Amino acid sequence: MTTGTPPPPAGPDTRVAVKDVFGIDSPLTVPAYREPTAHVPEVDTAYRFQPDVTLALLAGFARNRRVLVQGLHGTGKSSHVEQVAARLNWPCVRVNLDGHLSRLDLIGRDAVVLRDGQQVTEFQEGIVPWALQRPMALILDEYDAGRPDVMFVLQRMLESDGKLTLLDRNRVLAPHPAFRLFATANTVGLGNLNGLYHGAQRLNHAQIDRWHVVAALDHLPAEEEAAIVRSRVPSLADEDGRTLVAAMVAVAGLTRQGFRAGDLSTLMSPRTVITWAENTEIFGDPAPAFRLSFLNKCDEAERPLVAEYFQRCFDRELPESCAPAAT
Ligand SMILES: Nc1ncnc2c1ncn2[C@@H]1O[C@H](COP(=O)(O)OP(=O)(O)O)[C@@H](O)[C@H]1O
Ligand SMILES: [Mg+2]
Repeated sequence: MTTGTPPPPAGPDTRVAVKDVFGIDSPLTVPAYREPTAHVPEVDTAYRFQPDVTLALLAGFARNRRVLVQGLHGTGKSSHVEQVAARLNWPCVRVNLDGHLSRLDLIGRDAVVLRDGQQVTEFQEGIVPWALQRPMALILDEYDAGRPDVMFVLQRMLESDGKLTLLDRNRVLAPHPAFRLFATANTVGLGNLNGLYHGAQRLNHAQIDRWHVVAALDHLPAEEEAAIVRSRVPSLADEDGRTLVAAMVAVAGLTRQGFRAGDLSTLMSPRTVITWAENTEIFGDPAPAFRLSFLNKCDEAERPLVAEYFQRCFDRELPESCAPAAT
């Protein structure tokens, strides 16, 4: 363990009303901190909470439940957890389990350091033991992309009441009472079944079973998604902007339908719609912005169909819609 680690700060020192802080019609109050500290995420005032998911996450914070948020990419999983933490002033760190992260990155490793002119070997703790001993929410992002060695470590921790055994160091760390664990995943149990998430591992039931709450965050009703986009790009808040954003969300809806029907191998995420709106502001025209934000990411063979979706919602041709469909 790194020398000189300060004693962990105390836990929450106040309670806040869910109704006041999240605008959700609920009598609940949840523990929180009066003051933000170093690791508290910044409040994003444009973030719109989805009450079901928010309440699930609040149960995680208030009652120490492990919450796994599942949903397609770009639906707001990671930012939802962070924004709940931000509103509670709860310190929060996020670690992406994508294919590169190893067991040693998580747990820690021996490192040679210079101390009083001497080279000594010292254990430098990884992100998990560091967070575990603090009043901290740890988000395991892209939980379904974790390598087997990483999943093995996490699985052992989940199975032992959250205690972390540092095997090579012969130590067992107990979690701080205000430590909280969250995860996000694109898939639950299915791995890369629909071809959308390369690198996603199939999570087995034992892995899912250790999560107390599994919340699903999927595409929202069009009006709700449009409101999110308008909140992100304030210049689209007027009447013209409203019409424009509605058409953008309609295109996104068609790509999702096309994906479900097997006509497209990709789909527009809410994140892509936001990017498209931002790019429209930059280029002053939704058509080139569409090409740069989404169309060019599509397989060439699928571009005519995607261009047709645009044509249907904007009543304007893109050059791509005339291109012969590749076979
Ligand atoms: N409910 C929402 N309100 C405002 N912005 C949102 C909302 N949901 C998603 N976003 C925005 O969409 C983008 C993608 O969100 P993110 O949390 O990274 O998605 P995920 O983790 O599901 O891939 C971010 O820029 C985020 O701020
Ligand atoms: Mg994410």
